[in-house]
Amino acid sequence: MEKLSSQFKSDFFVIKALEDGVNVIGLTRGSDTRFHHSEKLDKDEVMIAQFTEHTSAVKVRGKAIIQTSHGQIDNN
Ligand code: TRP
Repeated sequence: MEKLSSQFKSDFFVIKALEDGVNVIGLTRGSDTRFHHSEKLDKDEVMIAQFTEHTSAVKVRGKAIIQTSHGQIDNN
């Protein structure tokens, strides 16, 4: 199981909130795609996270800077 877990561990990505109430929503990996976690960030708060065996997609609502190994997105 530990080997399987590490297969999904990827680079970290960074989300910096540019306003209060930015939501970082984690979506489940696998055939049943649903929200499993919602994290609320206030202005200037930073979240550092990874895609994992539980999380295959992330939805960001609100103004934020998102940095990944693929580049930076300014969600203004
Ligand atoms: N328990 C979650 C997991 O291991 C925590 C998590 C990791 C998460 N990355 C995330 C939650 C991204 C929201 C968004 O998958």
